[in-house]
Amino acid sequence: MIGRLNHVAIAVKDIAAATAVYKNSLGAVMTEPTPQPEHGVTVVFVTLPNTKIEFLEPLGENSPIAKFLEKNADGGIHHICYEVDDIIEARDRLKAQGARVLGDGNPKIGAHGKPVLFLHPKDFCGTLTELEQA
Ligand code: CO
Repeated sequence: MIGRLNHVAIAVKDIAAATAVYKNSLGAVMTEPTPQPEHGVTVVFVTLPNTKIEFLEPLGENSPIAKFLEKNADGGIHHICYEVDDIIEARDRLKAQGARVLGDGNPKIGAHGKPVLFLHPKDFCGTLTELEQA
């Protein structure tokens, strides 16, 4: 069912410091920081030949990554995102198998302007898993 790895998201407290490491040490090519108030994060994308890395920095009071950064002060891998051809079909199939879809269970428009869903980490090997409509 799952297709390409769309991105790996890394949560950090200081996105400028994080992107400087990737730029200076790893020679990565990346976008400018983009605030996404509706998601409570500021985002930078690192473009790689086969996928993307998404840096997330908390934005605002109720950022969904604030708790994660309390536990992981140096930052860390927050979630991985796989592409699916049909996000509704994927959701219904996973729910029928007992997987938990976060939020109200309906896809939201994600950072790339496409419908996304998040799956409970306890159902997927301890890893918060995002599905994005390809
Ligand atoms: Co993501």
